Amino acid sequence: MEKYICIKDLEDAATALLPKAARDYYKSGATDEFTLGENKNAFQRLRIRPKCLVGISHFDLHTTILGERVTMPVGISPTAMQRMAHPDGETANVKAAQAEGVIYTLSTISTSSIEEVAEAGPNAVKWFQLYIYNDREITKRLVMRAEKAGFKAIALTVDTPIFGLRRADVRNKFTLPRHLKLANFEGHLSTKIHSTGEGSGLSHYVNNLFDKTLTWDEVKWLKSITKLPIIAKGILRGDDAVKAVEAGCAGILVSNHGARQLDGVPATIEALPEVIEAVKNYNVEVYLDGGVSSGTDIYKALALGAKMVFVGRPALWGLTVGGEAGVRKMLGILRKELEYTLQIAGTPTVDDITRDMVRHESAYSR
Ligand code: FNR
Repeated sequence: MEKYICIKDLEDAATALLPKAARDYYKSGATDEFTLGENKNAFQRLRIRPKCLVGISHFDLHTTILGERVTMPVGISPTAMQRMAHPDGETANVKAAQAEGVIYTLSTISTSSIEEVAEAGPNAVKWFQLYIYNDREITKRLVMRAEKAGFKAIALTVDTPIFGLRRADVRNKFTLPRHLKLANFEGHLSTKIHSTGEGSGLSHYVNNLFDKTLTWDEVKWLKSITKLPIIAKGILRGDDAVKAVEAGCAGILVSNHGARQLDGVPATIEALPEVIEAVKNYNVEVYLDGGVSSGTDIYKALALGAKMVFVGRPALWGLTVGGEAGVRKMLGILRKELEYTLQIAGTPTVDDITRDMVRHESAYSR
């Protein structure tokens, strides 16, 4: 593992190892993949403004998320079907999160079940990502199982009335390999994804089974069936953030689904300030994912008001390269880079990182 010094090293190694269909599925964004690039580029357009000689006697990355203490403001976003990356899939990922003291979010369409993940990482802070199926009984059972298994929150994905167009998946006629199944389901719901036809098998699965008539009323329904806090995952507008809070969400995850839904939407770091401003008078935590691949990216998101960031693909690269050890390596790289950033920027604790620590590059070109 020593040879991996940065997230890009893990990405390069993982993409060399993965079979083409899985690699393309993990990597790709929607249509022209403009926003996919922007999720990263937009971080580069922000500058950190360090404070000198602040006297660093200690530094601390700990923070508290919905009442749970975590060792750093970085968590793992839900990504589907992790056993394509490594035979242990989600169970290796949650073990890494547990060992590193960070949040792990399990996808609804995972290749390890809610119960398997709970058993693998009993002490990890686990969130369950929910897709709402047309069949509300199926949906309700998922939520009940997550609650019973000790998951701490439901991340409701709100940006997916239908699946985005991912050209590589269409070309590859992407489906889950036959030896794997969607482990949270029995019968045809666990294997229907194998059926092939025109284009992406995953898109067929999602577009047939997920409910696209959803409105904010569904949050109220969710709240009536679970006591777990609900996080709205996929918000890019201030007015939607307000609707989410007013519907009862305890957290907002500013996300464009890893640029996989609609191309041409803003980079998440660009959308963050609008959301922070809109909910500033509400009691709600705001997080961000999308394109985070370094300690300075994390720092910039925290400076613009995020309470925490999540990473999706970086965890898949770590998982591919080395299972649990690979994901731990990925988290270790981000932790070290963030520790350096905090100290050299002169803001040794997470609470010291204020809005003025970051400026847009345009301020330097006048
Ligand atoms: C995702 N994402 C996602 N989101 C979700 O709510 N449910 C899911 O099942 C998945 N599955 C999924 C698979 C893959 C391969 C990717 C890359 C992404 C989106 C994910 O939670 C997150 O928003 C992004 O991955 C964050 O961007 P980065 O960190 O990958 O750039």
